[in-house]
Amino acid sequence: MFERELAATAAAMVAPGKGILAIDESGGTIKKRFDSIGIESKVETRRAYRDLLITADGLSQFISGMILYDETIRQAAQDGTPFVEVLKKNGILAGIKVDAGAKNLAGAPGETVTEGLDGLRERLAEYKKLGADFAKWRAVITIGKDIPTACCIEANAHALARYAALCQEAGIVPIVEPEVLMDGEHTLERSLEVTENTLHAVFHALYRQRVRVEHTILKASMVIAAKGCPQQASVQQVAEATLRCLKRTVPAALPGIVFLSGGQSDELATAHLNAMNATGATLPWPLSFSYGRALQAPALKAWQGQAANVPAAQKALFHRSKMNSAACFGRYRPELEKEARSA
Ligand code: 13P
Repeated sequence: MFERELAATAAAMVAPGKGILAIDESGGTIKKRFDSIGIESKVETRRAYRDLLITADGLSQFISGMILYDETIRQAAQDGTPFVEVLKKNGILAGIKVDAGAKNLAGAPGETVTEGLDGLRERLAEYKKLGADFAKWRAVITIGKDIPTACCIEANAHALARYAALCQEAGIVPIVEPEVLMDGEHTLERSLEVTENTLHAVFHALYRQRVRVEHTILKASMVIAAKGCPQQASVQQVAEATLRCLKRTVPAALPGIVFLSGGQSDELATAHLNAMNATGATLPWPLSFSYGRALQAPALKAWQGQAANVPAAQKALFHRSKMNSAACFGRYRPELEKEARSA
């Protein structure tokens, strides 16, 4: 029923040089971010912060869509214009996080399954009315001693596929996000093994639940050594391992892959994306970004909760978006960071 609309939305999400800005932090996560700058997390401070991100000028050159949280999709900018309307006026698609978070998985200590399927059909219908073009569901896979288990991977893959099928039924493009965490001490090789295993399970489940991959966007974690691994991989090694993993597991029919930043520094996340796009290899899908922290971190720091700092925060967001857009073409160089700082 929504075939054409879904295809057009998916194509627009990964248009050349454009990526997605994730500003869909749940209540707990945004509190953590605000704690880092000493700001209290209240309805109005959250609105004011999201206002500066959503109303920033000129972002649509680099940003195709923004992922909102349930509270945010119902809020409006300072002048009373609903946020969704501001986005649409600026030529930016509206996305919505629809999962209810990762909860402890029974019988699988240390592992989680993402909840939120009950009542999802009705919630999607409401989000569609509110103007949502696409949605996001994040599954979390933790690497540790004897984990992830098949129990965890299968449960999460099944939930992701059920969610994606419901989205497509509602005319909303699903972003399917199985995040393999970079917490712990595991090596790049172990990350490759687990990410490959996870993506195989996810695409198998999508097929089983009759999800059209043509109308789906994958949000992938990069194949990367854990934060606590003594042997950190080079940018080139991360790019090669990630590409190897994706080529082994992701169908060519998928319209595009966007990466999460997952705790990488902002500049490193840009460098990794750039290295993948700079190889010159012909890939079946565009590779872009859907960063939360790696796009917002400098803006959050510049803002400090002060209205007077809004222009500086918006400038910082514009700059990171521009750098990541360059990385989509493999044209990013660290010197570009310095040029911007001295400008
Ligand atoms: P990070 O880029 O901060 O990992 O966030 C992306 C995201 O949306 C995770 O679900």
